[in-house]
Amino acid sequence: MIYKKNKLKIDRFDISSITKKYKTPIYCYSLKKIKENIQNLKKHFKKINPLICYAVKANSNLKLLKEIKKNNLGADVVSGGELMKVLKAGIKPKKIVFSGVGKISEEIEYAISKNILLINAESKSEILEIEKIAKKKKKIVDVGIRLNPNTDAKTLTQISTGKKENKFGVDQKVFLKLINIVKKSKNMNLKCLSVHIGSQILNHKPYQNMLKVVNRVIKLSNYKFEYIDLGGGMGIDYDHNNSKLDLKKYSRDIEKFLKINNCKIIFEPGRSIIGNTAVLITKIIYIKEGFKKDFVILDAAMNDLMRPALYGAKHKIIPLKRIKKKSKKIYEFVGPVCESTDTFATVKNYQKLNEKDYLIICDVGAYGISLSSNYNVRPKPLEVLIKKSKIQILSKRQKISDLM
Ligand code: LLP
Repeated sequence: MIYKKNKLKIDRFDISSITKKYKTPIYCYSLKKIKENIQNLKKHFKKINPLICYAVKANSNLKLLKEIKKNNLGADVVSGGELMKVLKAGIKPKKIVFSGVGKISEEIEYAISKNILLINAESKSEILEIEKIAKKKKKIVDVGIRLNPNTDAKTLTQISTGKKENKFGVDQKVFLKLINIVKKSKNMNLKCLSVHIGSQILNHKPYQNMLKVVNRVIKLSNYKFEYIDLGGGMGIDYDHNNSKLDLKKYSRDIEKFLKINNCKIIFEPGRSIIGNTAVLITKIIYIKEGFKKDFVILDAAMNDLMRPALYGAKHKIIPLKRIKKKSKKIYEFVGPVCESTDTFATVKNYQKLNEKDYLIICDVGAYGISLSSNYNVRPKPLEVLIKKSKIQILSKRQKISDLM
């Protein structure tokens, strides 16, 4: 994404040509960037040769899933719906892992009937449920057990998953007990130890700590796991100041781990594949003078992009057209939804803005549209993909009539 003559371009495509044709808000993705991100992960983890299972929750648009599939990725799903969607996108069952703390019987049955690579179980009750269903179906199911390594991911508390107070996985003691249950079962094959300590991780140290715990638990279990699923969580540079996870260091730590444990590594990255591939194009409806600041009221709101309201997450907001003139005012960018948390950012020294100007909210590809809702009976926005300098519609804007 660069400015040319002060106009914003993505892959040499002039964004203002999109706003001329379609109404905002619009999610706009770059296929080139998606491919680059996938190549980047493959390059950094070349020595490990992992199975990369894209975490579908980050963005489950069917056309995007088909593009991701073309790059030979598998999928990490967390519901029957996601599983159905990735199968529809053509991803092979033997490249699909199923995570989540609350898989219902129908979802387990569906996953078993599709012969997916792994069901990663997160509790004793789930293991017993899988066994019951597998027995009924006269099948032998490949399972993983998710370990809660009690590792601090040093990320936002709302997106930490690997500490003992989090609902995810089981602690070391339970893990060792569950191994025995699965080992004794005639209908389950224990294949995998899985972990996932959190999301938007920017420092490799938490991963290092996680690997130490995994190593210890493998030793204690005295079991040869065919797969170790290290989850996702690789952070991206939302601040645009080069603060991203050092993949080289993470890779080196895993290489060391593999010297001790001979197994196939699985990754479940979501954000690092899709996060920085999209922008949300929005238009200023009104500018309203407030106490000490001006409210810049956008046509995009928390229902379109939930991350700031839900986690206090920061997304850079840049103008579609750059001008030199600065405003003396403080601007707060807000949406039209009736909630005080419907606010995106407060900025100083911004360029002077006018009503009907367009703004670009950056890095919204992951957990953007997938977390969106129809709150306030607002239709979900249009999604487009820039593909070889052409525009492809990924998903049409919902019609208000669809919401009646
Ligand atoms: N695997 C498991 C088991 C997960 O729970 C997650 C994310 C991932 C993989 C993918 O993590 P990623 O590579 O995308 O960091 N809505 C939040 C993020 C929630 C993440 C939930 N689990 C956000 O907008 O930041």
